[in-house]
Parts: sequence; C-alpha cells; structure tokens
Amino acid sequence: MPVSMDTLVSLSKRRGFVFQSSEIYGGTGSCWDYGPLGIELKNKIKQVWWREFIQRRADMVGLDASIIMHPNVWKASGHVDHFTDPMVDCRECRHRFRADALEGLPWLHYCPATKGNKFTIPAGEPCGHCGARRTQCPDCGKGELTAPRQFNLMFKTFMGPVEEDAALTYLRPETAQGIFVNFDNVLQSMRRKLPFGIGQIGKSFRNEITPGNFIFRTREFEQMEIEYFVNPADRVDGSPADEYWHERWIEDCLAFFERYGLTRENLRLREHDKEELAHYAKRTVDVEYRFPIGWSELMGIANRTDFDLRQHAKWSGKSLTYFDEERKEHVVPYVIEPAAGVDRMLLAFLVEAYREEEVRGEKRVVLRFHPALAPVSVAVLPLLKKREDIVRMAQAVRNDLARHWTAYYDDTAAIGRLYRRQDEIGTAYCVTVDVQTVGDSEKGERGDDKVTIRDRDSMEQIRVPRAEIASVLRELLGGENWARVAGRFPPE
Ligand code: GAP
Repeated sequence: MPVSMDTLVSLSKRRGFVFQSSEIYGGTGSCWDYGPLGIELKNKIKQVWWREFIQRRADMVGLDASIIMHPNVWKASGHVDHFTDPMVDCRECRHRFRADALEGLPWLHYCPATKGNKFTIPAGEPCGHCGARRTQCPDCGKGELTAPRQFNLMFKTFMGPVEEDAALTYLRPETAQGIFVNFDNVLQSMRRKLPFGIGQIGKSFRNEITPGNFIFRTREFEQMEIEYFVNPADRVDGSPADEYWHERWIEDCLAFFERYGLTRENLRLREHDKEELAHYAKRTVDVEYRFPIGWSELMGIANRTDFDLRQHAKWSGKSLTYFDEERKEHVVPYVIEPAAGVDRMLLAFLVEAYREEEVRGEKRVVLRFHPALAPVSVAVLPLLKKREDIVRMAQAVRNDLARHWTAYYDDTAAIGRLYRRQDEIGTAYCVTVDVQTVGDSEKGERGDDKVTIRDRDSMEQIRVPRAEIASVLRELLGGENWARVAGRFPPE
C-alpha cells in the first residue's frame, strides 16, 4: 500500500528529518525546519544534482545570485504584473482559497433533502441526495464566497532602514531571474559558446494562498534551476535547436530521477495546454510524481524563448545578446528551463524509499534510499557495549570512515534494535565490530581484525578485513551491486 502523508510526517518528526517551524510557539503555517537527518538528505540531493547537471557536463556552469535583487528585475520579468493567483474569501469563516483550485476541494454540505444533515462531498461531485453542487464555502458549507481578486504572490520587503516606497523590493519568487541578469557576466567571464547553461540552487519565496501537504507547497522553499541558452537559428537533428534541447532536457531529467531511485511507473509527463502556458513560454512539460496526494508536479521544463533576456535588455538598457561568429550576427538566445524544487524532490525520494516489510514475523520499516542519498552512509555499531576494546575499535573505525562519508556511531541498544533504527532512517550500510574482530586477551585469543558489513536492503552480511572497509564501502556507495561485492567475501 502506498505510504500516507501522515505516516511520513510522523516518521520525519520522530527520526529527525523535518520539524514544524517554530513548533514551541504553535508553529507557523507552511514553514518547516530540516532536522539532522533531513539536512543530510537535502544536501545529498543537491550534491548529486549539482554533480550530474553542473560539474559533469562541459556545457554547464554554476551561479549563486542574491535573493534580494533590484526591484526592476521583477517589473521586467512580469512578476509584478502577472505573478498572481485569484483569491476568494469566505464571508462567514474567513477561510481563504485559490479560486482556480476550488473545484479540486471536497466540500461541506448541509443537505435540505435530509433535514439539513451534514455531509462531506468529494471534490467536483454533486450531493447524492439533493443533487446540489457547491455554491458556498467548501470548509464551513455556510458562507458565501467573495468575488475573486488577484493576489500577488511575491513577499515584499524594504531595503535600508526607512520603510519608504523607494526602497520597496521583493524576496525572489524564483532563482531563474538571478541567472538571466548575469547572462552577460557569465558569457564574458567564462568565454562560453552556445549552447550552454547556467545552474543555480537557492531559496525562493512565494506567499502561497493555500500552502500545505507537508513540504509539497510551502512559502519558503528551495529551487534547483537551469537556464540553458540555445541559438534559435541553429538546427539539430532536423529540429530547431530550442525544440531539440527541450526534448533532451526532458529525457535527462527523467533519467536523473530514475538513476536516483524514482520508479518509472511513479513518474509521468504532462504537457501544458495553450491556456495554461505562462506568458513567456512556447511549451512547458511538467514531470509529475505519484505523491500520496495523487499525481502532482515535481518539476517543470519550459521553453521560455527569448522573453526574459529581451525584457531585461529593455529595462536595463544593456545589450544581452550573443555574437554568432558563423552568421556574423547578434542573436538573443532562447532558453530551456528545467526547474525543480528541492523540498518536493526530497518528498518524492522519501515516498519512494518508504517500505514496511515483515522480517521473521516482525514489522521492519525501511527507507530504501539510493546509497548516494542515504542521510547516513554508514553506521558503526559495537556488538558489546561493555567491552572497552570493541567500543574503542568501533569508534576508531567510525572516525576513519567519517573522513569520507556521513558515518554514525551508536551503542545505545542491542544490535537487533540498532539495525532496525538504522533501517528506519535509510542508513545504507552498517559495520559491526564484535568479539571475533578484537579477540579475547584474557583467554589469549587473537582477533581476526575483520568487521561485519550489513546491507540495508537484503540484510545480508559479509566479513571484511578492517584494512579494506573503506575501499569496499567506496565501491558500494558508488553504486556497485551488493551481490558482486559480497561474492568476493564468501562466508568462512
Ligand atoms: N522558474 C520557473 C519556476 O519557478 P515553477 O513551476 O513555478 O517554475 C519550479 O517552480 C519548481 O519549484 C516546481 O516544480 C516545484 O518543484 C518547486 N516549487 C514551486 N513552488 C513551490 C512551493 N510553493 N513549495 C515548494 N516547492 C515549490
């Protein structure tokens, strides 16, 4: 059975992945804090994305632009005029909704055909008794809704000590604009030729009318965005370059998700129809994931044309063009934009990893993360906490491994319980130091200096010489198949 959002919220809190922000004050709506394991997972997602899309590719470079930008950026980009959602309020209970999302909500109904009995009717359906459709507030069922009014989603702030209009600016609602305004800086400083891309990871802020569903929709979130600049006059494989690269980026993003553990049957593409397209887009395709709330957007991949560069050139008075040496002409590049949310991606990896299994009659909760994403790569566990020599060696092994990976030491329970705890947080491998490793000096028995490495998914174990732990883990965490590695260390 697919995991529910409630299960994930509760596991996230219990095991230190995600906490509600300012919880001791009653929490803030839609803001979340990443705990010790959550930040490891989040950092690893960002690391693999950066490595795959920025560092490994010869046609990509990175950037880290500031969150607060010149206010004209947001006029030029169209955010001041267009970055709005239609909002309605209930006159009775004062709850606030996005007008365009109302039909997707279940609604409360006091049915006249059943003496005013109260029913919750599924989204978009009429009442089964009286046939009425929703006209009032879906939450209280009584209040009239106001007419929709446009609400700008940007957070306003003031630069400088005086709250005057001149200093009004915004927290960025997307990282993309930081890339567009630096297009020429990167072009000149890095001597790039088209096609090339600039990637960026950073916080964005949107005053969402209806945030919710845990970390799926929040007001403060992190994005990983790429702006890939192409020459629209070029053709590749018989197609205009922008259309060719749009397809390539869709394939590359899907391959990335699959490589790091999302299964193809939980991923699908959704083409935006004409009415839905953003004002700047020629074509947009969403990658959707089957979240516990149903199929929903994981990321968007848009063809933004030359809209942004032209707008910024117009508003700033600076030329934002590329000189095409072959054709001897200045061109304004088109842009393909793969735009993903870190928090939403983390949620997808969490959903996909979660399993409840039965092991020898007991329930085992395990997070089957890709080894490169596991918040803890390796846990080192002493079999006997009472034996000082075992504890000492286990701690030394942990310290050694911690130079390369996130390595935890834990001796607060018996080994069976320790394994379960590590499974529940998705630790890829456990290393156990036992009596056989260190021997027994009182009995004059020498240890074999080997440790046990346990695989989280198969729960199989191999004994490996201490000197080889790091090289074996390097192979395993690098993605090498457990069975192949285990074959080199048969049971003695
Ligand atoms: N620059 C284009 C852009 O920002 P978007 O579709 O609005 O496009 C891209 O956002 C991605 O950012 C989304 O697919 C989603 O993963 C993430 N995202 C957007 N709004 C979000 C929110 N309120 N909370 C969490 N993630 C969000």
